[in-house]
Parts: sequence; C-alpha cells; structure tokens
Amino acid sequence: MATLAEETIPPDEAALIARLVVQNLALLNEKERPVRRGQHAKHHGCVLADFEVEPDLPAELRHGLFATPKTYKALIRFSNGEARDDRKGDAHGMALKLFDVPGDKLLEPCDTHDFILLDQPLFFIRNVADYVGLFDALLNAKASVIPKLLFFVPRFAAELGLVYLSFLSNRPTELAILKRTVSSKPETPLATTYHSTTPYRLGPHAVRWSALPNAARLPKFTAVSSPDKLRHALAMQLGAGEATFDFMAQLQTDAATMPIEDPTQPWDVAKSPPRKLATIRLPVQRPDTRELMDFCEQLAFNPWRCLAEHRPLGGINRARRQVYAAVSRRRHELNGVAEREPTLAEFLALHA
Ligand code: HEM
Repeated sequence: MATLAEETIPPDEAALIARLVVQNLALLNEKERPVRRGQHAKHHGCVLADFEVEPDLPAELRHGLFATPKTYKALIRFSNGEARDDRKGDAHGMALKLFDVPGDKLLEPCDTHDFILLDQPLFFIRNVADYVGLFDALLNAKASVIPKLLFFVPRFAAELGLVYLSFLSNRPTELAILKRTVSSKPETPLATTYHSTTPYRLGPHAVRWSALPNAARLPKFTAVSSPDKLRHALAMQLGAGEATFDFMAQLQTDAATMPIEDPTQPWDVAKSPPRKLATIRLPVQRPDTRELMDFCEQLAFNPWRCLAEHRPLGGINRARRQVYAAVSRRRHELNGVAEREPTLAEFLALHA
C-alpha cells in the first residue's frame, strides 16, 4: 500500500514513454508554417499578471514558491485544447509562466517557473500505458480505410467511432470524463476554474493545484458569436478592468482514496478542501496585439520547469517531461526559431 506522496513506477514505463514521444511527434502538422503545437495550438491572449503569494501562510504550506510572501510577475497563455472555432465544445488551458524565480529547476537551469492547468478537475487517461493505447487507436483510425469507405459519415466522426470501438467502449470512467472535457463552452476564459488534474509536491505534501476565478467581480461584457469569441471576451474584459484568480492547493490526506498514479479519480473536497496560496492578478491591459500573440506562439511550457519542492508526481506527469520537451524542440527547429525561455524585460516591452 502506497504512503502519502509516494509514486509507484511500472517496470515498463520508460519504454512506453518513448512510444508516447513518437506518437506525439506524429501529431504535429509539419506542413503548416509556423508549425503549431500538436495540442492546445490556439491561444486567446498573452496576458501579463502578478502572482502574489499570500502573507501569513501556515508553516505546513510554506514551501518552495510559497515559503515567503512575494509577488512574481507572470505570463498567462489561455488556449483551446483542439478547436479552432471557440463556439465548439473543447478543453481549455491556462498555462502560467512566473519570471525571476530563484533556484534550480528540475527541467533545466532557468529563471522561469511553469504551472499548466485545464478547465476540468480530472484527466481522462489513467496512466501512460492507457495513453499509448489511445494514441494507437487514434493513429490506426487515421490510417484505416474504413472511414474512407464510410463516405456518408464525416471523416472525423468515422475516425472517432473507430477509436470508441477499439479503446473507449470498455472504459466508462474515461469516456465520461472525456465527454465532459470536450463539451465545455465558456463565454470567457476569465470565469472558469482551472485544475492541474495531476499531483505535484508542496514540500513534503502531494497536492493538486487549481485557479479559482473571482467571477462576480469581473468586468461585464457583451459576448459575440465568432470563431475567436474567447479572444474578444478576454480583450474586452481586460480592457475594462482587472480580473483575479485564487491559486489553491488541495492536499492529499488519504493515499488510498486520493491516488497519486490515477488522475481519473476525484480527490474528495469534503475530506480535504483546497487552501489558498496566492492571488493571480490580471491588471487592465490589451493582451492580444499581433506582437503578443506571436510571442506566446514561440513559448513552451513544461510541468517540470519547476522547483524541486513542486516536483510533478505520477505516471502522466513523468511522461510529460519528455513529451513536451521533444515536441517543443521539434516545432522550434522546423520554425527556425531558437528555443529559449523569455525574459521579463522583453515581455514587459510588448505590454508597454
Ligand atoms: C501524458 C499526458 C499528456 C500528453 C502526452 C500531453 C501532450 C501535450 C503536448 C504535446 C502539448 C504541446 C506542447 C508544446 O508543443 O509546447 C501539450 C500542451 C498542453 N497540455 Fe498536455 N499532455 C498531457 C497531459 C496533460 C494534462 C494532465 C494536462 C492538465 C493540466 C495538460 C494540459 C495541457 C495544456 C494546458 C497545454 C498548453 C500549454 C501551452 O499553453 O503551451 N496536458 N500537451
């Protein structure tokens, strides 16, 4: 039986991660320029924020970034999981990059620190072996002649049907989370709760991160029907006033019912309510100029770009270290752009 914050690594995981890297590289559309991310390709803005660590945190929460009250300048990239048209249901991302964070990072020497969040509390895949299985089903469906024969069914729907038959039909938990994930249709990126779904360290604890919007205090706006409606909403709201999120940590308090290795399992909030660690403050700004949109296009996030006190935990996170690094390296190479971390000075210059 695992203890709190303890990982359990399957013996064949390294080989499975190597396959997952190859599968993710195959998702890049290498014909388009610039080559975009294989997942979460479309963003809605490149937002400037302050990440204000709470004063007076109790000793048990004071670890890593949260050891002392301090404000970090940050960048936020809000994205769609897959959709190019914001009116369609989809997963939505909130990726944060904190600047000028002292200390060694697990991925590489750098001054930045990343958090990657999604607008769902649970991830729809349990472990690396299952993710490899899902990708096999997806890539086989794309290569299959059956969708071509089913000429009366749209190709995408026929491919999904094959993936369903070969992988998802006997996995009801995953299917239910996937359905919820691809049905989310927010009116604005600023009124949604975002979650890490997978666990991370907070010193000796294991936690799941989340960002909770203070939606009642958001500037009002009139939604438009457009493929870029989330970009319009973000720009309208941040043009009119500030927005804030509470950055929270839910501590793992029971190793059996709050597993480290399975992000499809909810961690009961009644057993362990999320605790506030910081305020994320988005001041009035214009977040979607051409220069800023291009700047965010070139960036790369990685859950392992973090302090050891916030080490990612669990198989899905162990896989992401190599997958994100390989995919980002490949798209930067193809785009002829140097892969490097941004500085606060160059980001602020674009916001001036
Ligand atoms: C093994 C599981 C996963 C794989 C293989 C995977 C794969 C990827 C890839 C290839 C990218 C694009 C990276 C780049 O080109 O820079 C990406 C981005 C992203 N992923 Fe994942 N992912 C996984 C799990 C997750 C989980 C659990 C979350 C939950 C928070 C998540 C949220 C995101 C977000 C928000 C982005 C966009 C980051 C940005 O703004 O650049 N992913 N993922």
